[in-house]
Amino acid sequence: MNATNAVLEPGPRADVATYRSLGDDALSARIQAVRNAIGSRLMLLGHHYQQDEVIRLCDVRGDSHQLSQTAAASRDCRAIVFCGVHFMAETADILVNRPERLAERSGERVPVILPDLAAGCSMADMAAIEQVESAWSELGDVIDTHDVTPVTYINSAAGLKAFCGKHGGIVCTSSSAAAALEWAFARTRRVLFFPDQHLGRNTALKMGMSTDVMPVWDPYEADLGGLTAESLRESRVILWKGHCSVHQVFRPAHVRQFRERIPDIKILVHPECPREVNDLADVSGSTGAIIRAVEQAPAGTRWAIGTELHLVNRLKKEHPEQEIHFLAPIVCMCATMYRIDLAHLCWSLENLSAGTAVNVIRVDDETARWALVALDRMLQVR
Ligand code: 13P
Ligand code: SF4
Repeated sequence: MNATNAVLEPGPRADVATYRSLGDDALSARIQAVRNAIGSRLMLLGHHYQQDEVIRLCDVRGDSHQLSQTAAASRDCRAIVFCGVHFMAETADILVNRPERLAERSGERVPVILPDLAAGCSMADMAAIEQVESAWSELGDVIDTHDVTPVTYINSAAGLKAFCGKHGGIVCTSSSAAAALEWAFARTRRVLFFPDQHLGRNTALKMGMSTDVMPVWDPYEADLGGLTAESLRESRVILWKGHCSVHQVFRPAHVRQFRERIPDIKILVHPECPREVNDLADVSGSTGAIIRAVEQAPAGTRWAIGTELHLVNRLKKEHPEQEIHFLAPIVCMCATMYRIDLAHLCWSLENLSAGTAVNVIRVDDETARWALVALDRMLQVR
């Protein structure tokens, strides 16, 4: 074969697109080869919303809380590849490279790699640090912000976690939101909860609060987030006008249609779903809690599940003894989670193995220092 006809074998210096020319089997085998070569010094973390081809190659799969705990506890690994989205990789970087861990490794940083940098989160993008700082300052004109605890959902940029660390606040995940609110209410009368209004509202409702004390701050409104001074003075939880575009799709009509068709159906949803859906559900919980509910149910249980499509389809495959349906009649998957595919994973791993860590997510030291304060509180309250 002459040089012009030669088929170039994708390798570390090739761009990701070239890797796509390899089939899934070849990509999986090459990923496995890197894992074998690096061994326990490499850790692949995978969120439950990842596609099957990717998640089956991960060392640890979990919900946001479990993956944060794993990164915080990790001592042996020298590189993390995060099969998830940007805020998760940032969180892992902060936890795995915290000062005491760096000291144990004589200053050696563990690179946290996000195989595709475009794997963001549209909800996290709905609260920018400038917007939150400006809201905080405006709130200060109407209420005493010393009596407000900022609580950020982990689905947020590191700068927002740092904001919470600096202002006596806390980070929460979907599985620790109630504990975080309790922690906050033991300290202050009010909470500012961002960016997901639904998780904030669903959690506070479960704690017995009324929506009358949960005004929604719209960062795009010019004055007081579109709220009155009076509603802010009466507030207990000031919600941020943000949402998850995936979970926003589930509607009460979907629940009703299933109940009409299958009277003994159990509705299982994620608390990022709107209140109207969450209220009608039999069970609401994090992705980890959704999996446990299915795993622990007797054979023959019928479910309609309202969360990301890849997880629901995997549960269907892994639990043929149960009847599992997707709650919405339309496809709703997390397009950014889906960006992590075998080609990106193989490309980033082969570069790492060749000595060049690509797509490293690094939070600056000052932001990491304050974000860690709020993340440590999260890890302690649950
Ligand atoms: P959990 O895994 O914490 O339930 O989070 C769901 C999610 O939306 C991740 O982005
Ligand atoms: Fe963000 Fe929603 Fe995707 Fe989770 S499912 S990463 S909240 S867009």
